[in-house]
Formats: sequence, C-alpha cells, structure tokens
Amino acid sequence: MKKIKVMTVFGTRPEAIKMAPVVLELKKYPDLITPIVAVTAQHRDMLDQVLNLFNIKPDYDLNIMAQGQTLFDITTKAMNGLNEVLSKEKPDIVLVHGDTTTTFAGALAAYYHETAVGHVEAGLRTYNKYSPFPEEMNRKLTGAIADLHFAPTDTASGNLKAEGTKEDKIFVTGNTVIDALHKTVTDDFKFDDEKLANIDYENKRIILVTTHRRENLGEPMRHVYKALKDIVNEFDDVEIVFPVHKNPKVREVVNEELGNIEAVHLIDPLDYEPFANLMHRAFLVLTDSGGIQEEAPSLGKPVLVLRDTTERPEAVKAGTVKLIGTERQKVYEETKYLLTDHDEYQRMANTCNPYGDGKASKRIIEAILYHYGLSQEKPDSFIAGK
Ligand code: UD1
Ligand code: UDP
Repeated sequence: MKKIKVMTVFGTRPEAIKMAPVVLELKKYPDLITPIVAVTAQHRDMLDQVLNLFNIKPDYDLNIMAQGQTLFDITTKAMNGLNEVLSKEKPDIVLVHGDTTTTFAGALAAYYHETAVGHVEAGLRTYNKYSPFPEEMNRKLTGAIADLHFAPTDTASGNLKAEGTKEDKIFVTGNTVIDALHKTVTDDFKFDDEKLANIDYENKRIILVTTHRRENLGEPMRHVYKALKDIVNEFDDVEIVFPVHKNPKVREVVNEELGNIEAVHLIDPLDYEPFANLMHRAFLVLTDSGGIQEEAPSLGKPVLVLRDTTERPEAVKAGTVKLIGTERQKVYEETKYLLTDHDEYQRMANTCNPYGDGKASKRIIEAILYHYGLSQEKPDSFIAGK
C-alpha cells in the first residue's frame, strides 16, 4: 500500500501545544504515514518549552524569530524557509494549526507547491477582521486554501458550511488542546519553581493572568493592570500569578504597573505542565488568550476574557466564560463580583466540556487516512457533552 507523507508546520507556543498530540498520533501509523515536522520557530523559547515537554525533535527548524518582529518579517521568512523544505520533501499534505502568521504562511507555501492542506482548528470566526488581529484573517485565508477542515466544534463546522465549504471536507474532531490537557493535569502535581511551590493555595485565592494580543498592546493592557492593582489593594486574600509573555511590548507595561507588588507574582512564561496545573489550582483566570479559554472550562475555572470579541462562543453560552474587554472600571468590577458573590462564582465554576473529549488527534489522523483511501472508516464526530 502507498504510504503518505504528512508534514506538520507550526511555530508558536499554542500551535505547538495543540499540534503535539497530532505529531505523536501520526507516529502510530508507521506502515501508512511518514511524518515530517517543520517548525518556523516564530517563537523561540516558548516553542522550545513545548517541544521539550512532548519530546518532539523537528526535522526542520527555520529559526525565524527576531526581537520586535513584524508581520512582514514573519510571513516572508516563513515563506522562504518553507519553500526550500517543501521543494525537498514534497509531502502529500501539509497540516497547519489555527490562526497565527505561521499558519497562514504554511498554508500559502503549500498552495504554491500545489500541495494539499489540512487545517486543524478550522472554522473559528469573529467576523471582525481586526479583532483578533491578524488572527481572524489568518484563519479565513487558511480556510480558503485548505482541502481538509478539522473543525473543533459544531459551531466552527457551521461557520465553514455557511461560507460554502463542502460538507464532506469538514470533520468535527474536538479541539486537540483537550488531548494535551488530559495528558498533563494531575491532582498531586508538585511545582519545581520555588515561588509557585511556596504559595499558600489553601488560604489565598489565586488569580491567574495572561495577556499578549496585539490589539491589546499599550493602553488597553495598562488599564487591565491598573484594575488588578486595585483588586490586590482591596482583597488581602488574593494573589496574582502572572506568567508574562516574552514580547518586550507586554513586559515593559507589566513591569511599570505591577512590578514590586508583594501580592503580584510576575514570572516568566511557564512550561505547559506547571501552567496547566496552576490553572487547576487557581480561583479565577483573567486572559486574552484563545487556548486558555478552551482549557479553563474543562477544569471548572471561571474565565474573564480581556477582549471585546471571541471566536469561542461555546463556553460563553455555557456560562463559564465572560467577555469583559479591557476598560479599567469594568475589569475591576467584574473581578470583584466574582470575588464577593459566591453564587455567581459557583454558577460560572461549573465544569463544562464544549471543546473536546481527548480524542481529537485520533479523529484527525483517521480522517486523513480515510481521505487518502488508506482506511474505509470515516471517523465519528465529536459531540459536546457526551
Ligand atoms: C503570536 C501569534 C498569536 C498567538 C501568540 C501566542 C501572530 C501574528 N501572532 O503572537 O496569534 O496568539 O503568538 O502566544 O502569529 N518573543 C520572544 N520569545 C518567544 C516568543 C516571543 O522573545 O519565545 C518576543 C519576540 O520579541 C517577538 C515578540 O515576542 O518578536 C512577539 O512575537 P510574535 O510571534 O510576533 O507575536 P505574539 O504576540 O507572540
Ligand atoms: N501557556 C503555557 N505557559 C504559560 C501561559 C500559557 O504553557 O505561561 C499555554 C496555555 O495553557 C495554552 C497556550 O499556552 O495552552 C495558550 O497560548 P497563548 O495564550 O500564548 O496563545 P493563544 O492561545 O491566545 O493563541
């Protein structure tokens, strides 16, 4: 039987976390699949953290990251590097993930080589091309190029159908981030980091914070940090743990507003394992991240999303996630509400699993084998809450 060559392309932390289960699953079919891993390294340190955790050794590493890189830098460097890799390897299909600039460049490079594209985490939309920027356009353009669409949820699949994507090319798989999370969170996890190990989780309520979105850089982030300062000044039993993104534009404002406050722990980005386990211990999460909005609900943690739009409406509908934007008074009030109103907290803290059941990567590989006639069985669809 003919073997197919499947090349995964990714470059940032969240893509790596969400593609790691796919890379590991691809290795389980050595008679049918030759897997190749190409990373752009749009992120360097934050990518390597994930590669180490999942023990993934890329076949190609384009090492493109530069301090203060622009969208043009990332796109052109990734395209040029991938051109060489694709010329050499000639894969049957390239798999890209989500909505970063690596994702779009990977899809476009594959298209220029007339190579098939599979889009993992397909169909997420806000229908606002500048929010999130540039992710909304990255995922739309990738969707326009893709041959196979691995939609995490029915909502995402519905978005694709509404745009005219052929139904038989869409597979509802669940989100691979839940596959990764299942492998990572344990009740008895011990933190190596001294600061995290010494936190009094019994008596303190931990607010876990992350921020990095391009549209929030500068003043919006400053507003959020001022609100957090108001909160720790008011609540003695609250501590903030804030793993600060490596982007210097984030770090500068964080340090100005939240540096040297005893109840605020500013730390470097955490490895995925301690991060997921910290989320498990936290009282509440404040974030503008996409992935964290998917993970926290399955751990039963309320999430206040520091954005005006979300492409992940499922947990908002389920009541675990609330969109609050970045305005100082609003962030302060919504955080205070959850710290003081027990019923509201309990209402939001319900565990819900709209995003996956841990089997997404298996379904993705089954769908690829089915597409290439290497398996007669179409994978079952992920059904939320089942
Ligand atoms: C990127 C993605 C965004 C994704 C986010 C996840 C684009 C345009 N943006 O945004 O969709 O949500 O990753 O975190 O694709 N840096 C380091 N070391 C690292 C990583 C970043 O120093 O390991 C610094 C560099 O100075 C870099 C800057 O952060 O220039 C910004 O990185 P970049 O990938 O351009 O943007 P993100 O905001 O990380
Ligand atoms: N994450 C991590 N360490 C951290 C912060 C986040 O491992 O210090 C993980 C988090 O669990 C999630 C992913 O990184 O899986 C989200 O990445 P990010 O917020 O950077 O990007 P987005 O999801 O918004 O694209």
